[in-house]
Amino acid sequence: MRISSVAENTFLNVNYYHLVNDILSRSFGKTPLAFVRTYGCQQNVSDSEKIKGVLKNLGYSFTDDENLSDLIVFNTCAIRQNAQDRVLGNIGILKKIKSKNPKVKIIICGCMTEQDYAANKIKNSYPFVDVVLGTKYLNVLPEVIYNLLIGSKVQVNSLESSDDDIFEDVPIERDSKIKAWVPIMYGCDNFCSYCVVPYVRGREKSRKSEDIVSEVKGLIKQGYKDITLLGQNVNSYGKHLDEKVDFSDLLEMLDNLNGDFRLRFMTSHPKDATKRLIDVIAGSNHICSHIHLPFQSGNNRILKLMNRRYTRESYLEIVNYAKHKIPDLCLTSDIIVGFPGETYEEFLDTVSLIKEVGFASLFTFIYSPRNGTPASLMKDPVTYEEKSKWFSYLLKEQESVSLKIYEEMVGKIFEVLIESRIADNLAVGKTSGNISVEIETLRQDLVGKFINVKITGYNKTKLKARIN
Ligand code: SAH
Ligand code: SF4
Ligand code: F3S
Repeated sequence: MRISSVAENTFLNVNYYHLVNDILSRSFGKTPLAFVRTYGCQQNVSDSEKIKGVLKNLGYSFTDDENLSDLIVFNTCAIRQNAQDRVLGNIGILKKIKSKNPKVKIIICGCMTEQDYAANKIKNSYPFVDVVLGTKYLNVLPEVIYNLLIGSKVQVNSLESSDDDIFEDVPIERDSKIKAWVPIMYGCDNFCSYCVVPYVRGREKSRKSEDIVSEVKGLIKQGYKDITLLGQNVNSYGKHLDEKVDFSDLLEMLDNLNGDFRLRFMTSHPKDATKRLIDVIAGSNHICSHIHLPFQSGNNRILKLMNRRYTRESYLEIVNYAKHKIPDLCLTSDIIVGFPGETYEEFLDTVSLIKEVGFASLFTFIYSPRNGTPASLMKDPVTYEEKSKWFSYLLKEQESVSLKIYEEMVGKIFEVLIESRIADNLAVGKTSGNISVEIETLRQDLVGKFINVKITGYNKTKLKARIN
């Protein structure tokens, strides 16, 4: 069965919604259940919310138990080998579920399936998977499900790429009532030499500013309090749009909206982070005092090999400017340990940078070679065991940096958005800087509210506080 080309389809393709609704209500006798598991970054979390939106409109409800489901969707990640291995291991486990219940349908989508070798491996080694679906075919999901339900064999990731399309009319089933993800752009043009994202997500494309503003307005109206703008490099937002707009302009437009909300964004690429961006954050009402600014390595030779297109010095210049302009600024970063050819001395430049900047927290990774990337062809003489030692050392150093930052916060007052309760007398939330806070309180009405708290202590992962 050939699926119609992407251009012929829209999410409002009522026909397929009706057809699937009809089959589901006739053949199940109960609401059919879907299980959606997400791997990888916030972009994937956001895509899964759209997948769930489409499934809900088709007539599915959701379950957390694969064994109870009629449809299983894995939205996969390819960023590192261990992410990919975890997906393959979990697909293997589905064989048992399929043999117990041959009617269950299995769809594997997301970044991993955009690599031919991985898509072929799934098709060849896991023949019980019904569909391998790529990252760009959300709009054909109703048609795919229809074909699955009528028993046709469906192969979708051989469709022509739909790189130019952004679909604005996709229903979204959000995981939270307080925090929302808003993609402002898709894809990546940067081709950092180690990274698979540009190959699996395609070229950068930005959403029109009016569409983003209208989505954020809607979220504020619905009561969302913490809105995160998403993109692989939000700083290059608008580059390929007809309208003349850049990321700072977009932030200003959103900051001007009325309401009680916080605005965050990720990820900022240091090569495109401008002083104007920092000025906009500094002068804003709603933008959080948090910048996630991945530097990857503190050594200029390695940065060049990584094709990051900034230097340690230019990174420090923008960071120091931001620290000077934004009170209580929290910085976080991503780091790769053991890039091919990195020496111990070069790794120590990364350690010295984390101390010099003072990051509140870090996402640290051991380099993982990715098929088709330039770095995977570079000589990589240091053993994984050796890199693991460097990695542990880095974590230890970062722990003392974080604890020092927490220590300096004790006794001060911060505004916290309460996200949930974890016990009768404990609520948890986040500061504007995105640090987790555990608050001692008996009040049960705090979730979704902004509360001023006084920091009373901390442990390795969070601050402790009481209501001020
Ligand atoms: N667009 C973001 C990063 C997205 S990927 C940026 O440029 O900052 C998230 C993180 O995964 C990267 O920042 C990098 O630290 C890590 N990463 C990407 N490819 C990797 C690889 N091949 N091995 C190890 N870590 C990797
Ligand atoms: Fe990957 Fe670099 Fe693009 Fe980030 S900016 S997604 S690290 S290629
Ligand atoms: Fe993974 Fe794709 Fe995100 S590779 S990190 S899910 S963009």
